[in-house]
Amino acid sequence: MSARPFYVTDPIFYPNADLHMGHAYTTTLCDVLARTTRLENRPTFFLVGNDENASKVAKAAIVAKADPQSFVDAQAEKFKSFYARLNIAYDDFIRTSDRTTHWPGAQALWNSLVAAGDIEKRAYVGWYCVGCESFKTEKELVDGKCPDHNTVPDRIEEENYFFKLSKYTVAIKDLIERGRLLIVPETRKNEVLALLSRGLEDVSFSRPTEKVAGWGIPVPNDSSHTMYVWCDALVNYISALGFGQADNNRYQEFWAGTGERIHIVGKDILRFHAAIWPAMLIAAKLPLPTVVFAHGMITSGGRKMSKTIGNVIDPVKLLDEYGTDALRYFLIRKINPFDDGDVTEDSFREAYNADLANGLGNLVSRIMKLASQYLTAAPAIPDNTIPAEFFDALHAFQFNRATDMIWDRIAVLDARIQDRQPFKLIKTDPEKGREEIAKLVVELYTIARMLNPIMPETNEKLKALIRANQAPAAPLFPRKD
Ligand code: MSP
Repeated sequence: MSARPFYVTDPIFYPNADLHMGHAYTTTLCDVLARTTRLENRPTFFLVGNDENASKVAKAAIVAKADPQSFVDAQAEKFKSFYARLNIAYDDFIRTSDRTTHWPGAQALWNSLVAAGDIEKRAYVGWYCVGCESFKTEKELVDGKCPDHNTVPDRIEEENYFFKLSKYTVAIKDLIERGRLLIVPETRKNEVLALLSRGLEDVSFSRPTEKVAGWGIPVPNDSSHTMYVWCDALVNYISALGFGQADNNRYQEFWAGTGERIHIVGKDILRFHAAIWPAMLIAAKLPLPTVVFAHGMITSGGRKMSKTIGNVIDPVKLLDEYGTDALRYFLIRKINPFDDGDVTEDSFREAYNADLANGLGNLVSRIMKLASQYLTAAPAIPDNTIPAEFFDALHAFQFNRATDMIWDRIAVLDARIQDRQPFKLIKTDPEKGREEIAKLVVELYTIARMLNPIMPETNEKLKALIRANQAPAAPLFPRKD
């Protein structure tokens, strides 16, 4: 039997501004999972991308004195370099301005919704928040302002095509309740079910083309309308695989088949992924994702990161100062993916010094100094030493618990060295001493293997040192004060 295909997606981010810690977080979670299933030899596809057809992106282009296309082109290059620094091994980077890969998919899906009788032109009067890129109901406004952006939304009166989302409330609720569409964690699933119990309203799926200055995907057979957000952005998950194109082998393998199809998102965009997107897929008679995992938000010092508060933590600064694996380590181990998490420069430095400089770094140099001094070559390394619980935890999105398992092993080895004193044993009983050191090296190799999805660079370095039977020339994680 061939291994079950695994498809994991990152949200497509708005390229109006630079990526920050929150984006780095979601993307790293996806990357860890993709590396995990590759380690398990499963066919894996990991998608990232940019959500380019948005008015805030067009506005950012104006501020940058660029035309929208060259602006988003430049931003995409920047994001790619950022991912390279974070060691994100994505398989494809989808861009919604891409007329050959993305547009055919979005238009094909639109046509399916029309065929299902679920698209209807209606007059629309309401409030539109550009920051959110979404229409707001009166109820959602606080003192007439968008609570997230603290700005007065635009008053809009226009014709829109609507998607009859309300029709699908019961079907989606049923799928979630029966576990056919898994929403993880449970708390978020309950929030979605509560939302569905209140009933879904039909949603606007287009804007008049002149209102968006022609930036976006034309509605099929009516270019006076441009697709608005949903039928554009959400479709990226299948257009990237070739949906709507002649060559759709990837779509067949990773979406239409029996594989896992996992969307990882922040809790802020869960409802779109747990309600609108499944409804679109049901209407178009396409398979649904198997899981939507929604993580919490990252704060700094207990508050939302904001330029005005001055508590924004720049991931690039941390990458420069501490390196890629240190940032990945912090995000994966120190943020509880089921809840909101916090990062400050102090908490980062503390974790780095305690767990990487002292914990892992020290252990590696102690063991490898002994090995290079007293063993003539690397000991024989058994195959497949990663415990099944480690993979189970990662597949259950318990990224921090999986990483705890590695650091538990580091503690066990530290205690063992303390207890058996190999550096003394080697003098009194050289044979036993060598056996003990070889045992430590073999255990360290398992640690190296387990680090593979989380800290890929360190995984490589450790395996190379062990194979060459060498101590690191310089500390892997120099202390920072
Ligand atoms: N373009 C839409 C998503 C469309 S997906 C079909 C969008 N883009 S966004 O640039 O605003 O990114 C939102 C996502 O960025 C969140 O869902 C989350 O993945 C990540 N984060 C942004 N800020 C975050 C935090 N402060 N903390 C954690 N993740 C955050 O919404």
